Amino acid sequence: MYLGLDLGTSGVKALLVDEDGRAVGSADATYDVTNPAAGWSEQDPGDWVRGIGAALAALRAAHGAAFGAVRALSFSGHMHGAVMVDDAGCVLRPCILWNDTRSHVEAAAMDADPVARAVSGNIVFPGFTAPKLAWVAAHEPDVFARVARVMLPKDYLLWWLTGRYATEMSDAAGTAWLDVGARDWSGDLLALGGMRRDQMPDLLEGTDVVGVVQAARADLGLPAGCKVVAGGADNAVAACGVGALGEGDGFVSLGTSGVVLAGRDRYAPDAGTAVHTFCHAVPGRWYQMGVVLAATDSLNWLSRITGRGAGDLSASLGDMLRAPGGVKFYPYLSGERTPHNDAAVRGGFTGLDIASGPEDLTHAVMAGVSFALRDSFEALKATGAQLPSALAIGGGSRSDYWTRMLATTLNIPLERPDEGAFGAALGAARIAICGDTGADPGAVMTKPPISDVIDPEADLTAAYDDAYSAFSGAYPKLKAMP
Ligand code: XUL
Repeated sequence: MYLGLDLGTSGVKALLVDEDGRAVGSADATYDVTNPAAGWSEQDPGDWVRGIGAALAALRAAHGAAFGAVRALSFSGHMHGAVMVDDAGCVLRPCILWNDTRSHVEAAAMDADPVARAVSGNIVFPGFTAPKLAWVAAHEPDVFARVARVMLPKDYLLWWLTGRYATEMSDAAGTAWLDVGARDWSGDLLALGGMRRDQMPDLLEGTDVVGVVQAARADLGLPAGCKVVAGGADNAVAACGVGALGEGDGFVSLGTSGVVLAGRDRYAPDAGTAVHTFCHAVPGRWYQMGVVLAATDSLNWLSRITGRGAGDLSASLGDMLRAPGGVKFYPYLSGERTPHNDAAVRGGFTGLDIASGPEDLTHAVMAGVSFALRDSFEALKATGAQLPSALAIGGGSRSDYWTRMLATTLNIPLERPDEGAFGAALGAARIAICGDTGADPGAVMTKPPISDVIDPEADLTAAYDDAYSAFSGAYPKLKAMP
């Protein structure tokens, strides 16, 4: 038996699988994000520990025998967060999360040094880890002076379970301290961010074994000698869960943030496109992706302010895909990554009419997010990544309407995995299998069974193309607004 743990922004999922990667059971636990100031987003690492404790206890209660036979576990984790600990391993301040943009000044300063993009292969985005530490150095010097180690969120849990400070390539690639092509920490990048190599965890590949669950965690009830495998960053691990490892394989994810991801056999960065080029969670591979910061987050926002569930809003549009309407939405509720790298821009509606109703707004929100994903898709193509079709994953892809709209906007078929697909938790379990058995990742990380293929709607692609052109042209105007 193997365990995959998906440490997400709003909760953790634990998935128990057998040695063929077939699901045996799963359990979830939730926790909160705090926003102490505008643009800030933090989490207490203690909440992750409690969440994992609760999810594992539930799995153990429901599947005692299988739980007692777990040989190895691994993680998927939300990226870029900075967990700072002192030399006794005590957490110095709440973790600053991936969607926290307070360090935009520090990020711009680092990004202005040509070494940053040349070595990391990426723009230094405000959400990345290095500028967060520069912000702490400038604003919380007492904390900064005591930072013995910096860990990514899931790496804190690797340490908590095994007692070893370790990370792996896919998460390290999102720090702006890694030479992403060479798969090693970069002395130049560390110096640029005022950090030292001894503050970095040991650098492993995702399928490497970190250690075994230490005796201090015996209360979790995992068998003695249970291995902890390094795992990876959420999008890389989700790609492992759906078999997107190499050229031509990829997915579009309609999650809290939206992602268009393509597996790559080689390192081919093009930082200027604002596409992220990161190491994959398996050795010798990379992936590239465009990130839309508020995807289902945009619909959830509309749901909050209208007091109607996101599913209800989506269902109100019926089954037939409509042409793009007069109401337009720009989903920059938290700024944008790809292709704009703009933490300050904010979203908006245009074209509101006295007759506009909730359906028009819902349609506009789904279309605005679809167009933002097309922006990422175009940027990805500019790097040389090809996606003739893609898997559609993430909560938003459960909406037939939204998936149809997205397929039409991107003008490629979208394949939806079976209901039982477990995404990043399954990817983490597959990494645990590879780490324990030494199996070839390509043989373990296969494509899921597809439940349906959503084709672009040929009679509407031209209309969505025109609306996308108008959407792209609107960004400079929004940016110029006070
Ligand atoms: C990727 C990114 C998000 C987070 C949260 O760069 O910031 O995918 O990892 O899911």
